[in-house]
Amino acid sequence: MASRLMQAVLYETYGGGSAALKHVEVPIPRPKTDEVLVKVEAVSLNPIDWKIQKGMIRPFLPRKFPHFPGTDVAGEVVEVGAGVKSLKAGDKVVAFLSHATGGGLAEYAVGKEAVTVYRPPEVTAADSAALPVAALTAHQALTQAAGIKLDGSGPQSNILITAASGGVGHYAVQLAKLGNTHVTATCGARNIEFVKSLGADEVIDYKTPEGATLKSPSGKNYDAVVHCASGIPWSVFEPNLSPNGKVIDITPNPAAMVTFAFKKLTFSKKQLVPLLMSFKSENLSYLINLIKEGKLKTVIDSRYPLSKAEDAWAKSMDGHATGKIIVEP
Ligand SMILES: NC(=O)c1ccc[n+]([C@@H]2O[C@H](COP(=O)([O-])OP(=O)(O)OC[C@H]3O[C@@H](n4cnc5c(N)ncnc54)[C@H](OP(=O)(O)O)[C@@H]3O)[C@@H](O)[C@H]2O)c1
Repeated sequence: MASRLMQAVLYETYGGGSAALKHVEVPIPRPKTDEVLVKVEAVSLNPIDWKIQKGMIRPFLPRKFPHFPGTDVAGEVVEVGAGVKSLKAGDKVVAFLSHATGGGLAEYAVGKEAVTVYRPPEVTAADSAALPVAALTAHQALTQAAGIKLDGSGPQSNILITAASGGVGHYAVQLAKLGNTHVTATCGARNIEFVKSLGADEVIDYKTPEGATLKSPSGKNYDAVVHCASGIPWSVFEPNLSPNGKVIDITPNPAAMVTFAFKKLTFSKKQLVPLLMSFKSENLSYLINLIKEGKLKTVIDSRYPLSKAEDAWAKSMDGHATGKIIVEP
């Protein structure tokens, strides 16, 4: 296996966008003791992939060049390290490769056993490769930060989800509706019916003057906002929040961090909560099971072969995906 070659995608410096992606032939990686080698069937892109390339997380990521991007993969285990206990060759899996190592835009990828989860064969590779970053972020925002119980047992909450048509947002709407919630969602005009079909109770067009105020058409104040868009200041959220309302900001800019600190220091009941997804395998298994049970669906914006990975990259950078962008080796 070690001497065989595979197709993979890399970039060698910061910047350059999709044009800077290079297709290369490299040796198929060997799994270390605690790793599995996966024959990749699908990989999904996330905005963080091109943000790392842009140098937005410099100097932390990438750790070195060339960098092989792509973290969210689904495929079949073809080899396991000597210490791997829970998986075996032939298992269908989903893995979250770290942003530091990446390597998902390739025919084969290695993942730690701890971040690789079994998936039942009836859950497709594309549907499950879409889950790790996007759905785990939506799940964490709703359950951990907003305190929503997805079995519907909690008290009724009013939730606002911004950018509900995107990768994170489309999962957030569906997951929120598993709880005892009233969901208001924002998206562009072309996606209003789509977002309603995901379960949103009311939908606002973010490009209209009324939409820009984020006011609920039925006059609700929000107990929590899962904020998946960017560039909306606290002053727009504040008048729409209930007395203990929280804005969970998954793309906090410097102004949001100042608001976060100020609200904390002044013991404000209304809070801004910056959120960074932290991987939990049990949560990924839970989400895969929801897909299997038909309670959650992945909506695929577009699919590309690995040979056209740069087109998928450009589509993600464009910022107008409806659902998830998938690359299939
Ligand atoms: N903190 C974390 O751990 C974490 C995890 C995942 C993602 N993120 C971040 O969260 C953001 C969203 O990620 P994503 O994967 O969902 O992105 P995405 O799929 O690229 O989002 C694209 C969608 O957002 C919609 N949109 C853009 N601006 C909007 C606005 N102001 N109001 C309403 N809708 C708007 C677009 O609609 P139109 O086409 O109609 O404009 C499009 O459908 C990104 O910045 C990403 O980096 C953070």
